[in-house]
Amino acid sequence: MSIRKIYPYTETVLRQKAQPVEVFDEELQILIDDMVETMRVAPGVGLAAPQVGVSKRVIVVEFGNEDDDSIPKQLYALVNPEIVSQSEETILGIEGCLSVPEFIGEVERAQVVTVRGQDRHGKNVKIRAEGWLARIFQHEIDHINGVLYTDRAEQIWHPDQDEDEMETT
Ligand code: NI
Repeated sequence: MSIRKIYPYTETVLRQKAQPVEVFDEELQILIDDMVETMRVAPGVGLAAPQVGVSKRVIVVEFGNEDDDSIPKQLYALVNPEIVSQSEETILGIEGCLSVPEFIGEVERAQVVTVRGQDRHGKNVKIRAEGWLARIFQHEIDHINGVLYTDRAEQIWHPDQDEDEMETT
């Protein structure tokens, strides 16, 4: 595994609609392993392939509440993910992005989403996510559609020191 360079928002790859994955080959396995390692080192709670300069529909998410054992940390690697349903209920929350360093912003997202896609071996998966996990999935799936959270945020700002520990994606 190796750590890949994280591309900033100024790179065009972050503004392109990423290509669907059709072949679940060794190259894809290496990409996913590298994305997981890159996300952990950053550190972040999610990463999309365009953020490492690869225009493919692949995301990784690793999130859990360290203060709450009932929400253990779980790793997701999803290929061709899409949101197939979402709650009408939305919630405002603060997001950061590894490709938009030194800023955070408040974004309205659906409280609950159902995501469908494939795992790293091509098996179909369906995930129902709520709260922060739902927010991370929406943020990462935006990335593979060329959308940044800054497009959705009403305002973005430089975090204060106490906000600096914000988890980013
Ligand atoms: Ni991001």
